[in-house]
Amino acid sequence: MPLESDAVDLPEGVKSIRIEKQKVFDGQPFPLVLTPADSFRVNDSAFWSKWVKDNVAILEQLLLIYGAVLFRDFALETPTDFDEFSKAFGYKHFPYLGGVAVRSNIVGNVSTSTEAPPGALIPFHHEMAHVSDYPTILFFYCDVPAPKGGQTPIALSNVIYRKMAEREPELVRRLREEGLKYVRVAPDGDDADSALGRGWQSTFLAADREDAEKKATASGYDYEWMADGCMKTITKVLPAIREDKRTGKMIWFNSLFTCYLAWQDARNDRTRAALFPNGDPIPPEAVKSLEEVMAEAAVSFRWQKKDVVMIDNRQAQHSRSSFEPPRRILASLYKDHQGGL
Ligand code: FE2
Repeated sequence: MPLESDAVDLPEGVKSIRIEKQKVFDGQPFPLVLTPADSFRVNDSAFWSKWVKDNVAILEQLLLIYGAVLFRDFALETPTDFDEFSKAFGYKHFPYLGGVAVRSNIVGNVSTSTEAPPGALIPFHHEMAHVSDYPTILFFYCDVPAPKGGQTPIALSNVIYRKMAEREPELVRRLREEGLKYVRVAPDGDDADSALGRGWQSTFLAADREDAEKKATASGYDYEWMADGCMKTITKVLPAIREDKRTGKMIWFNSLFTCYLAWQDARNDRTRAALFPNGDPIPPEAVKSLEEVMAEAAVSFRWQKKDVVMIDNRQAQHSRSSFEPPRRILASLYKDHQGGL
């Protein structure tokens, strides 16, 4: 099927298909969905890793145009196959330093995407937008699709920005001019019952308090130790809306939404997790608009076993729907040569 945008030809060996729930923004499908062409139904994962290596430049152009690419039916039977496939792009692996979710390593550069409980809400976010250094390329792999729910919805942040600029111009003005800072109380040791339960030890890969303090300072955080051993971290003020210099598009690149909806547990108050530099919270009515805008922008496709979705973390956000177990979605994070926003 021809693409709406014919700026870039697809690499040899694949075709683009339409799937349920895919949307069209500015005349382009989101995400782009690629599947092996009929004459290329090769059941050999090594073939596809080599194919990636041979076609990196085209695949990068496609990712830049579409924001996310879903690879369907590429014979990636195991987490190791997925690891090789994503490594074939040649990017630098990004360790999960400073992240908030509880994760464990599976093989190579592959880890669980999150171990938050099935019912926990994980709203839209750019991976690690609350810190100054973040991965630019994300890969997710479907090892075990959930029998019900468990999608990884994705959304284009330029679409979100444009809709919000229309609906909440004052909020957008302040975000553009002032930026945001983020406050999180990290537990003493991991708390797998919370979606932001990553303890300060694993947040900073630190053996003790002194080590955590050193690494927090190096990453630009202020911190405060609580009486119960928890560590309160406050990021420096980060830009909340950024221009993607590669495309000239304005990007809604902040963690306001996920903070306001989900940074709540025994230690944290979600309404004060994302703040303007002077300490002002985000007006609740504006968050209501943002929820509606997110719903319009969201694409919530159904996972199939072996699917890989490659996300440009500068352009697109992701989230997780609640689910019925079992479900196993794996992740691998990278930094490409193009740098952040
Ligand atoms: Fe994430």
